[in-house]
Amino acid sequence: MLTAAAHAQHLSAQLHELLCAEIAAAGGRLPFDAFMELALYAPGLGYYVAGAHKFGAGGDFITAPELSPLFGQCVAAQCAEVLQTLAPPPGAMTNDILEFGAGSGALAVAVLRELERLESVPAHYWIVELSAELAERQRQRLFTELPHLAPRCGWLTTLPAHLRGVVLANEVLDAMPVSRFQIAADGAIAEIFVTTTAGTLMDIAAPVQSPGLATAIAALHAAGLAQAPGYSSEVNLRLAPWLAAVGAMLDAGVVLVSDYGYSRANYYQPDRTSGTLLGYRHHQVSGNLYQHLGLQDLTAHVDFTAVAEAGEAAGFTLAGFTTQAHFLLGCGIDRLLAGAEVTLEQTLAAKQLLLPTAMGERFKVLGLNKNISGEWCGFAVRDLRDRL
Ligand SMILES: C[S@@+](CC[C@H](N)C(=O)[O-])C[C@H]1O[C@@H](n2cnc3c(N)ncnc32)[C@H](O)[C@@H]1O
Repeated sequence: MLTAAAHAQHLSAQLHELLCAEIAAAGGRLPFDAFMELALYAPGLGYYVAGAHKFGAGGDFITAPELSPLFGQCVAAQCAEVLQTLAPPPGAMTNDILEFGAGSGALAVAVLRELERLESVPAHYWIVELSAELAERQRQRLFTELPHLAPRCGWLTTLPAHLRGVVLANEVLDAMPVSRFQIAADGAIAEIFVTTTAGTLMDIAAPVQSPGLATAIAALHAAGLAQAPGYSSEVNLRLAPWLAAVGAMLDAGVVLVSDYGYSRANYYQPDRTSGTLLGYRHHQVSGNLYQHLGLQDLTAHVDFTAVAEAGEAAGFTLAGFTTQAHFLLGCGIDRLLAGAEVTLEQTLAAKQLLLPTAMGERFKVLGLNKNISGEWCGFAVRDLRDRL
């Protein structure tokens, strides 16, 4: 019987074989986003779908909902405001929450628990999760921790035709496969692909092939960004189709996207010469994207200007854009901390969530309205939309 570590190495070797076969089948090079999709989501082998621990102190990275339920309590305050603003739904429709990529289920538990306290529990809490392994973890956690609310939760593999309410996506966009590009010495645009030499995966630059990439880079150039020879970065071409699908689904309500990222001008600033893609394993950061295949997370920052633009193209209006710290303050984290008996652990977690040197400024929250308007508490302390 294999030890857990040996089993993980075995899966990693199988993923390596699969990637080499895909590269060969694609004529010797695979667009980077196709590589990233397999590395994260290849059935049975990718980082998010195989059994890696992933979240929390014993895993590879820690997210805000994992750090403290305070994050989810604040998100719940924003959800309650939106759910109370929405008119009663017509016919048999209900006002619901839909969470993308619910990870370990920590956010769902904290949000539902707080909404119950606020007497604003939605009729349904839908979860759309790419990873069957994570969906099972979420189900078990919700049925264990909130057995009386778990029957309201449902796991979907496709988006419902209609939804009214709130859509949540915390650290989901950073886990979407991105396309990479490089500016050649003569100023020409090249796409970065993944190739293999004697079994070793590596970058290779070649003429742009991915649909939409040349247009996206032309838009950056028109804004005076990403032009210098040698400059390389990445673009999330899957963001706009994702938001278009969310926009087609949402009849009325708010989408809240929270993640680490920048405005476009900041993302593609001249000295960020090799983009933001990184690997995370055991809380160590690595620029080597081709090591520990399936055993390290791969992630890129979010271009929030692109989120706002794609949202507007998908029929939303911008509800607000702010830092995580300002969002949490607007949602009343200070009141939560002043309220019940606060442990030292909760105070330390709140510091991590709020301090600019920790998660407070690096993480942002962007809201998109659809057929609803309101002065949402999360953006009331400081709305930074003019920086997008
Ligand atoms: C970095 S983890 C964040 C998990 C959780 N939201 C949290 O904050 O702890 C990314 C999650 O998004 C999921 N994911 C990525 N792309 C997705 C998509 N297009 N639809 C649904 N889930 C997605 C992954 O499977 C994983 O659960």
